[in-house]
Amino acid sequence: MGIRKILTDKEPSLHKVCKEVTVFDKKLHKLLDDMADTLAEANGVGLAAPQVGILRRVVIVDVGDEILELVNPTLVETSGEQIGAEGCLSVPGRYGLVKRPNVAKVKAQDRYGEWFEAEGEELIARCFCHELDHLDGIVYTQVMERFLTEEELDQM
Ligand code: NI
Repeated sequence: MGIRKILTDKEPSLHKVCKEVTVFDKKLHKLLDDMADTLAEANGVGLAAPQVGILRRVVIVDVGDEILELVNPTLVETSGEQIGAEGCLSVPGRYGLVKRPNVAKVKAQDRYGEWFEAEGEELIARCFCHELDHLDGIVYTQVMERFLTEEELDQM
């Protein structure tokens, strides 16, 4: 197990543009393994490398039956729209109302450098967009409509 510390959005690393991964070595694999452990312990859906202080374009998303590893991901296609509650492990205890596409397709490399595409709907599409934003230094609070109130959260 390699649990890494999740940084909050007060840390400068959450607001920097991350660099591309060019070397697909053991160090990258260890980062991905540690990120999966960290995500599981935090009970989250997705995690981006800058959240653990690594300014590289690496993201993981729990898509239900597996942990999807996205290295150097880009959005290639989006469609539809959803408006809903969104949270972030780097913004503990708060949720915001965020508009996202309902379907999102990403292109990325796996831990060995092989390119692939993955498509997600609803929560997964939301998560792809949220995590990819992290790689450009964007936290959801910068793109949300507003924070949700305690009453609204209680009703959900
Ligand atoms: Ni986040």
